[in-house]
Amino acid sequence: MAEQRSVLKEYDRYISALFAAEDNALHSAREEMLREDMPEISVSASEGKLLQVLARIIGARRILEIGTLGGYSTIWLARALPPEGKLISLEIDARYAEVARRNLKRAGLEEKVEVRVGPALESLSRLKVTAEGAFDLVFIDADKEAYVNYLRQAMPLVREGGLVLGDNTLPDAVLDPAAESGTKRYNAAVSAHPDLDSILVPVLRGKGIDGLLISVKQSSALKT
Ligand code: SAH
Ligand code: DHB
Ligand code: MG
Repeated sequence: MAEQRSVLKEYDRYISALFAAEDNALHSAREEMLREDMPEISVSASEGKLLQVLARIIGARRILEIGTLGGYSTIWLARALPPEGKLISLEIDARYAEVARRNLKRAGLEEKVEVRVGPALESLSRLKVTAEGAFDLVFIDADKEAYVNYLRQAMPLVREGGLVLGDNTLPDAVLDPAAESGTKRYNAAVSAHPDLDSILVPVLRGKGIDGLLISVKQSSALKT
């Protein structure tokens, strides 16, 4: 098992060195989070790049993130946006949000990204599909127990053909002794959702393996 972990680490290093090298802004964002005693639970660089590539593939112009922490995944995602693109990121912890804003500013993204402080369920209920249009991509990455609620509230805000992404959806769902983990319920809800076409993809982390549940929103009438 330990040997397997070190092989996974090597795979992640290989992929990251070729395709997800951190620039100064990303590196500093992680350093800043350590200085501020924040948990080391950001996406890995390789998963950050996966988020970015997914956003680029669908030509995302409006992105919603649930769970900001220090803005590390936010930077990867916001860099996929065109000049007029916007990202809204929801965070319950005001101190984390301040760190994220500093990190985003260092990355030159302060114009594109807005960090909203408060419980995400409340912030979500205030978000409406505005004249600017619905979201092209929603990244769910806050408290795992509420993932199913986030999905329910986010669905009406996502355009058809848009993506709903759920982080940390693999090890807990399979190995957590608490059989009804939040992400396990999320995975089941997504799998049964008539308007989502999905696949759970294993992703590499420094610590080992995790999962990103990738869903495309479609009209249920179109489902194959
Ligand atoms: N997306 C980040 C990591 C997010 S960690 C990255 O990969 O870089 C999860 C974050 O969700 C934490 O910052 C935590 O404070 C926040 N969070 C937890 N419960 C929340 C809630 N109810 N509403 C909004 N944010 C919440
Ligand atoms: C953990 C990792 C995450 O990406 C997250 O959003 C929450 C927790 C973890 O490893 O504990
Ligand atoms: Mg996560």
